[in-house]
Amino acid sequence: MARQRPIDPRVAAARVVHQVAFKGRSLDPPFAAPTKVQGHPDANASTLARDARLSTELAYGSVRHYFSLRNLVDQVLDEPYAGLDSLVSSLLIVGAYQLRHTRIPSYAAVNETVAATRSLRKPWARKLVNTVLRRLSGIAIRADDEEARFDHPTWLIEAVRRDYPGSWEAILDANNSRAPQSLRVNCQHQSRQAYQATLKAAGLDAVPGMVPESLLLASPVPVHRLPCFAEGAVSVQDEGAQLAAGLLAAQPGHRLLDACAAPGGKTFHLLETRPDVEVLAIDANPERVAAMQKECRRLGFDPSFVQTGDATGLDWWDGRSFDRILLDAPCSGSGTLRRHPDIKLLKNATDLAAFQAIQRKLTATVWQTLAPGGILLYCTCSILNDENDAVLEHFLREHRDAQPVALDDVSWGTATRYGRQLVPSKGGPDGFYYALVARRKARRKARRAARTP
Ligand SMILES: C[S@@+](CC[C@H](N)C(=O)[O-])C[C@H]1O[C@@H](n2cnc3c(N)ncnc32)[C@H](O)[C@@H]1O
Repeated sequence: MARQRPIDPRVAAARVVHQVAFKGRSLDPPFAAPTKVQGHPDANASTLARDARLSTELAYGSVRHYFSLRNLVDQVLDEPYAGLDSLVSSLLIVGAYQLRHTRIPSYAAVNETVAATRSLRKPWARKLVNTVLRRLSGIAIRADDEEARFDHPTWLIEAVRRDYPGSWEAILDANNSRAPQSLRVNCQHQSRQAYQATLKAAGLDAVPGMVPESLLLASPVPVHRLPCFAEGAVSVQDEGAQLAAGLLAAQPGHRLLDACAAPGGKTFHLLETRPDVEVLAIDANPERVAAMQKECRRLGFDPSFVQTGDATGLDWWDGRSFDRILLDAPCSGSGTLRRHPDIKLLKNATDLAAFQAIQRKLTATVWQTLAPGGILLYCTCSILNDENDAVLEHFLREHRDAQPVALDDVSWGTATRYGRQLVPSKGGPDGFYYALVARRKARRKARRAARTP
């Protein structure tokens, strides 16, 4: 009798797809691939690593292409997809993904997916899964199903089409591709050039990116394969996210607030390039704060500057103003769909309005802590106007002491009314929005008038 594998990648992937598509859970761990099965006779490290990689690939790919795969499966089912057992329909999506988007031979994809019905305790679905997957060959996506054609939900297609009338299809297409793995070299350890040579010696090719500390790997690798990762010599961070540190233009001795800091990539980059500033990093989510403090230890920073705090209020503030504020606001994440395809299934148009409300509140609140002459950097990893220029527009209307600062001397992205927008492109950085706002100093005349009795 054939020995059972410790982790069946198709079973694991179907469970993840089920969690995302039917339970509203995120693709992030613990729903990502299982990594160990204790005490199983077959649980040797290389098999586990290979199976974990395959289940991650199947889960991410199935979620990335969920809308088109659902359309295909729906066409060949005898009953409506919506009426099917949700775990079995998730397994069908994983099966269809293998047939349409991987090089796994069809017979293996079908046989292994059919076999997975047993571990999923759905033996009655064996015949159904077999029939549906075999019927898929030669079936095309129905042209009248826009969600399936673009692999995006309708609300997002409409929002991107509205904001980018000339390039919306290219953006949606890029969203369905895989993001490159970019690195941030810790210049306190060594130069980018030196680390590039270290990578080369380890058999890893990389080229310099658009930020002085960034390197783009030719092929993605797990972090444990990056030389000196554990010692803090390098971090994985999208290049678009690495633009924040330079835009802040912090000077020695500046006091800086990172108001939505976790997991901390932008603050850590700033501290690696500008260690002579004082930083307070707060985040409302205690678990994310704990993770950021742990990351401080890897990178060699004292974690005491990272605290739990809600930036829609000022409980955390000691009354000393900041020279620079980074507000990397919570947002839809619409610029990061390549890395987080689950956003397409988990977020909706109503969420957008809620994000805008919190973005407005955060901007107005942290503004009170900015010193006159200081600068606020507002940013999101969204490509949608509602979360970007529209938030700035509202803020500037309400704050007479706020002055937008033009971002003319940068070569990336495109100018918007108040800031600069990067949109995802194949092989390029994630979508980010950045806008700088300076706080005007009080006018001398007004101050003199106030002093006159
Ligand atoms: C886009 S992420 C920040 C990413 C981070 N700046 C980085 O570069 O790694 C937004 C963060 O805002 C936090 N957040 C949401 N609401 C908040 C609030 N009211 N006050 C402070 N942080 C908040 C979330 O917990 C989340 O960690």
